[in-house]
Amino acid sequence: MGGGQEELKGPDLASGIPVTDLADGAMLLGHAEGEAVLLARRGQEIFAIGATCSHYGGPLAEGMLVEDTVRCPWHHACFSLRTAEPVGGPALSPVACWRVERAQDRVRVVGKVDRDPLAASDEAKRGVTRTRAKAHSARITASSDRAPENIVIVGAGAAGTASAEMLRRVGYAGRIAMLDAERGTPYDRPNLSKDYLAGNAPEEWIPLRPDGFYQEHQIDLVHDATVGALDLPRREVQLTNGMTFPFDRLLLATGAEPVRLPIPGADRANVHYLRSLDDSRAIIAKTKASRRAVVIGASFIGLEVAASLRKREIDVHVVAPDKLPLERVMGTELANFVKALHEEQGVVFHLEDTAAAIGDRDVTLKSGGRLPADFVVIGVGVRPRTGLAEQAKMAMDRGVTVNEFLETSAPHVFAAGDIARYPDPYTGERIRVEHWVHAERQGQAAARNMLGIGWPYDDVPFFWSAHYDVSINYVGHAEQWDAAEVDGDPFARDVVVRFKRGGRTLAVASIFRDVDSLKAEVDMELEAAT
Ligand SMILES: Cc1cc2nc3c(=O)[nH]c(=O)nc-3n(C[C@H](O)[C@H](O)[C@H](O)COP(=O)(O)OP(=O)(O)OC[C@H]3O[C@@H](n4cnc5c(N)ncnc54)[C@H](O)[C@@H]3O)c2cc1C
Ligand code: FES
Repeated sequence: MGGGQEELKGPDLASGIPVTDLADGAMLLGHAEGEAVLLARRGQEIFAIGATCSHYGGPLAEGMLVEDTVRCPWHHACFSLRTAEPVGGPALSPVACWRVERAQDRVRVVGKVDRDPLAASDEAKRGVTRTRAKAHSARITASSDRAPENIVIVGAGAAGTASAEMLRRVGYAGRIAMLDAERGTPYDRPNLSKDYLAGNAPEEWIPLRPDGFYQEHQIDLVHDATVGALDLPRREVQLTNGMTFPFDRLLLATGAEPVRLPIPGADRANVHYLRSLDDSRAIIAKTKASRRAVVIGASFIGLEVAASLRKREIDVHVVAPDKLPLERVMGTELANFVKALHEEQGVVFHLEDTAAAIGDRDVTLKSGGRLPADFVVIGVGVRPRTGLAEQAKMAMDRGVTVNEFLETSAPHVFAAGDIARYPDPYTGERIRVEHWVHAERQGQAAARNMLGIGWPYDDVPFFWSAHYDVSINYVGHAEQWDAAEVDGDPFARDVVVRFKRGGRTLAVASIFRDVDSLKAEVDMELEAAT
């Protein structure tokens, strides 16, 4: 998505290159048949796969080789060098897989392997890297009775859709019903506050999959289907319209919803929250006849909205109680930079202040000031949608409690994504994470576990956030830290910040230091696996 025609660089690999041009552990960017191709060497094995990430078109040759996989520098998708499959989100589709021919001292690329993007494969079953797969294969999940024939997924967001696809990729042939309260096809939620809202991403980039995809893969996607209750003894899901869906395995992936601000005027028609595609469209519609907006909350979403509205030449004021935007997550250095970056683009901050009331054309601040506003966007955080699990009396802990296999306390019921609090093997803490890549990967792990494959979830959390032309990457999870070590300069857009507790790195934030970010992720993965 959003890739476009790429300029071809490097040697023509169809003509071949000397084997000695590719050292062990090295990658080389070239092309064949008019397409960018990545050649990679692991010992005596040489692999060739498409060089452009199937997520947003990231340059895989600038990423990192990890055993027989390559990781994308932009948002850390992981592709198998053997089959070109995406073995780690956010990419859902494979890149091209090329055949390689080695004759004497030359290697050349000799044509593409044709395959269905969801074809069942051993690679999908094996997933991740060999090192971590060892840890995985050593454990078997508890729910290994009769093989399921009926899997129901509640929520067609990041976790739900990735789970449904993974079920097919690992060869599950039974029924999959994916129920979602929304009316359209599943879409790329992170884009809603970024390029889509800014007007830089056309509508056709937003669906996760093309028309007919779910039907083609026998994934029964039911729209406008709000699940109202779970009947666990009968193993049945009930929609609010009375329809019921029986299940052998159930995945709850209901995500989160924006926290509503309890202030006078917050229910006015000029006040918006942003979670869904309809929400984003409603804000875009408002920008057409507006000049001024107030964003309440300097959260990631609030600030991304501010950046996108500036692209649409809307005057933006941001009101937030924080001393600096994002400081609690990103630390002081990055927070200072983020503030300056937005100010450079014309955003006006009202920090250490809050909105007291929203009027038809203005926002009244607690400090007494009044900001004119044609419309208001509130981004003050989200809360997990746990109503179904609570009603069904599952174990809860500020989210739905799951074990390492993403099983809830209810037999045959799994949870993934924003709602799931799980044991994180790296920190040893039970955490709940609200990131797109994490939700997809948990959905994929839950798919395997619903089939009894036995796949403890041990991925390191990762997220990115985009502000104008700056993308901030973050790996790990640090709710508190005692040292933030800064390597580089955020104002030079070249920085890594390591958040440490007791000398141990818990999380790493970076700007334009993609390989450092990937290295940090791999180090944490390996440490968690040992
Ligand atoms: C505007 C925006 C930008 C974001 N940007 C980023 C980013 O840049 N990077 C990042 O890492 N993360 C980002 N996130 C967070 C990320 O999108 C979420 O963490 C992720 O979508 C969570 O996935 P999920 O599957 O748990 O839930 P969701 O993707 O929210 O999907 C849940 C689905 O469940 C459905 N549902 C809920 N209740 C019911 C019910 N009772 N019956 C039927 N269906 C139901 C909902 O309609 C929804 O479609 C962003 C979020 C938003 C809103
Ligand atoms: S562009 Fe590769 S993971 Fe996003």
